Amino acid sequence: MKKLLPAFLAAGVVFAPVAGFAQESAAPAATTATEGQIEGAAPGAAPDAARGTEAAVAGEPAEAHATPHYPLKKPAELSWTFAGPFGHWDLGQLQRGLKIYKEVCSNCHSMNLVSFRNFEALGYSDEQVRALAAQYQITDPAPNAQGEMFERAGIPSDRLPSPYPNPEAAAAALGGAHPPDLSLIAKARSVERGFPTFLFDLVPWKQYAEGGPDYIHGLLTGYGEEVPAHITVQPGTYYNPHFIAGPALAMAPPLSDGQVSYDDGAPETLEQYSRDVSAFLMWAAEPHLVERKATGFVVMIFLIGFAIMLYLVKRRVWADTPH
Ligand code: HEC
Repeated sequence: MKKLLPAFLAAGVVFAPVAGFAQESAAPAATTATEGQIEGAAPGAAPDAARGTEAAVAGEPAEAHATPHYPLKKPAELSWTFAGPFGHWDLGQLQRGLKIYKEVCSNCHSMNLVSFRNFEALGYSDEQVRALAAQYQITDPAPNAQGEMFERAGIPSDRLPSPYPNPEAAAAALGGAHPPDLSLIAKARSVERGFPTFLFDLVPWKQYAEGGPDYIHGLLTGYGEEVPAHITVQPGTYYNPHFIAGPALAMAPPLSDGQVSYDDGAPETLEQYSRDVSAFLMWAAEPHLVERKATGFVVMIFLIGFAIMLYLVKRRVWADTPH
C-alpha cells in the first residue's frame, strides 16, 4: 500500500497534462467553425476532415461537409539556431530579416514595441542606427509651440512606426483587415501540434518553443495553392491553408523570389526570405531569449549541486540521532 500511493501520484503527474491537452485540442474545432466561408459546413463532424486540397482532389462530399478546423495545414517544424537549451541567434540571419521587414513588411505593419536603438543588438553601430532611424518620418509625440503635431526625421529612441495614421485607415486601404503590429507576433501565434507530438514536450531537451516562427514561415510560403472546390474565397482575400483563423486572409502574398537583394550571398528565394524574417520577428518578440536560456542552465546546475549538498548536510546533522 505504501508503494502504491507514490505510484498513483506519479501517474497523475504524467497523465494530468495529457488529459488537459486532449480537451484543449478538441475545443478549437467547435469555436472556429462559425466562419461561414466553407460552403455547407456541418457542425459536429470530424475536426480534421476539412483539409482543403485532399478533399478537392478526391471530390469527396463527406469531407466537404465536415467542420473546418484552421489552419487547414500545420506548419513544418524547421530547425532554428535559437532552438534548444543552447540556442543562439544567427546575427547574419537577423540582419537579413530586418532588411526584409524594412523593405517589405514595414509598408503595412508597425513594430511599435521595438526602438531603432534596439538594433545595436544585431551588430549595428550607433551611426548605422542613426542613419536607419533618419530614413523614417515620425510624428513627434508632443505638439510644437503652436499646439500642432509635426513630423520630423526619426531618432534612435523612436519606435518603428505604422505607415497608417490609425488601424481604421489601414483596414480601409487593405481590404477590411488592419495589419497587426508585428512586435510580439512570433509569441502571439502558434499552432497546436496535437497528439502525440506534445508528449515530447515532457522531455526537457525536446520542448517545442518555435511554434511562432514556424507559423510565420508557413504563412509566408503558404500562398499560391489551388483553392479546393468546396471553399469560397471572399473578394479581397487570398487563399492560404496555413492561416490560423480561416481559409483566406486579407494580406496579399508579400514576398516572392528575388524581391530583396542580399549582400552576404544568402539565396534570394521566398523560402530564405521567410526564414530570415521569421527569425527576426522571434528576436523582436524575445530579444533576451539566449540570455534567458544560458541563465536557466546555470540555475539548473546550481540547484542540482545545492540539492546534493543539502542531502549530505542532512545526513551529517542527523547522523548521531538514533531512529
Ligand atoms: C500590403 C500590405 C502588407 C504587407 C506588405 C505585409 N502584410 Fe502582413 N498583413 C497584412 C494584412 C492586411 C494583414 C491582416 C490579414 C487578416 O487578418 O486577414 C496581415 C497579417 C499578417 C500576419 C498575421 C496573420 C495572423 O495569423 O493573424 C502576419 C504574421 C504578417 N502579416 C506578417 C507579414 C510579414 C512578415 C510581412 C513581410 C514579409 C508582411 N506581413 C507584409 C498586410 C500586409
